[in-house]
Amino acid sequence: MQKSPELRKEDGIWTLFADGKPFTMLCGEVHNSSASDAGYMEEQVWPFLKGLHINSLLVPVYWEMIERQENVFDFTVLDAIIKQAERESVKLGILWFGLWKNGISSYTPEWVKTDQKRFFRAADRNNRPMDVVSPFCQAAVDADAKAFGRLMEHIGEKNEEQQTVILVQVENEVGLLGSDRDYSRAANELFGKEIPDGISSLYEKSGTWEQAFGEEAPEVFMEYAYAKAVGRIAKSGKRACPLPMCVNAWIEKFPWRPGGYPSGGPIARFGPLWKMLAPDIDILCPDVYTSDFQGICREYRTADNPLLIPEHRRDIKNISHLFYAVGTCQTLCFSPFGIEDFLMPPETRTGIGNPDVMKILNIDRNAWECEKTGEFLGRAYQLLDSAMEVIYRYQKLGKVYGFLRENEHEKGTVIHLTNCDIRIDYLDQKQDTPKAAGFIIESGEGEFYAAGVNFRYSLLPLKSEKRQLGILEYSEGRFENGMFKRGRILNGDERYCMLMLEKPELQRVKWYFYQED
Ligand code: DGJ
Repeated sequence: MQKSPELRKEDGIWTLFADGKPFTMLCGEVHNSSASDAGYMEEQVWPFLKGLHINSLLVPVYWEMIERQENVFDFTVLDAIIKQAERESVKLGILWFGLWKNGISSYTPEWVKTDQKRFFRAADRNNRPMDVVSPFCQAAVDADAKAFGRLMEHIGEKNEEQQTVILVQVENEVGLLGSDRDYSRAANELFGKEIPDGISSLYEKSGTWEQAFGEEAPEVFMEYAYAKAVGRIAKSGKRACPLPMCVNAWIEKFPWRPGGYPSGGPIARFGPLWKMLAPDIDILCPDVYTSDFQGICREYRTADNPLLIPEHRRDIKNISHLFYAVGTCQTLCFSPFGIEDFLMPPETRTGIGNPDVMKILNIDRNAWECEKTGEFLGRAYQLLDSAMEVIYRYQKLGKVYGFLRENEHEKGTVIHLTNCDIRIDYLDQKQDTPKAAGFIIESGEGEFYAAGVNFRYSLLPLKSEKRQLGILEYSEGRFENGMFKRGRILNGDERYCMLMLEKPELQRVKWYFYQED
């Protein structure tokens, strides 16, 4: 029997453990509808994942499917997918599409959708009911919590042998879209009252929501509502099976108005509120479809929140962001969206990509383009998978140094090792290749590894150093069971310039000092 998955913070580093060992999810998320049919997964998903070298996959479980009739549960499809994952030696993250998915309640069962008295809707500013069950509707939150609890109990039973499910996302991109707050009767009543004690002490404010938060009041009010509801749902699931749990955010976007992005979702600036009201949620996560990647990582990776990226845009930016997320930010998971498309011939893809849908989702067309990504991603995942043991070892010692070129104005960076510096020159990437990114692992005195794409590097003596630096051996290779397995030794013409080109590589450099007479 394998050990249960868990999340631990040791020496200041958050680590996800699967089967008792540190595990970074080199992952992908399937399209929204793929996991509703195990036969479809068999034919249209798994075959196209092989070349990507993923070690884990994120798949939704839908409330409308598991509880078609109230209190009658059916996990047939999930069980089949767990079996498939076990056959493929891939771990699973489950996405609970319950009361809310991208701001709406489209995955609720028919008995919820049609009983609007018991499960009342949120209303917009004009008092029109929305396609969203109100987060103030306690009966709905209780019904979701019950279903989620039952799902987790089932996952706990399924996990007994192989511990295949290692992560659970509660709901998906919650928050209200199309209105800054819920204007239903129940919501209006609460909005006129004094803010609750917890919110009052957290923000050191008092009075009604408007008195306390002014023009921000509608958004803070919705944050309170969703965090409390999701907290209640997560608690019910955690009690049944204590797997690591996360929530994902549709992050703030132009024009930066709540309701334009889901109002009430776990965006970074509301982290403390979410941590207070939903303590069973271990990780708040960003879905990354925009481009300020370092900024997003900085916002979400805090002392009490590890980085975990459950959704990432699909273009070639993936590769550079992956190296940065693993090397610099110790991400627990990196997961491009619609992963089954990446190595699938374009004509057989069933995923969306229609311009109207992209507009509704507020996603740039170019963020969706995955034509060139698959081959690079597969290579990067393979390289990283073999290197993770070594990366964990040196991250603990603070000896892994990552970098990422954000734009063409950045020329390079300098990395400081113990006895020398490394100068990194970013290469201008050819079209459709990843921008410069990577990391250096200082593995000993006079030895380091370099990994990544599109940069040139060279040894730089420390400013105070009088001696010269020379190369003892420069080679390419890969890791096997934590040991470097050397490939070619790069000497002669290949030694003048130490280079990482557009395909992800791993190289080792051994160097020494020599004296001038
Ligand atoms: C973000 C959502 O979380 C996903 O489920 C999916 O809808 C993507 N957007 C885009 O298709």
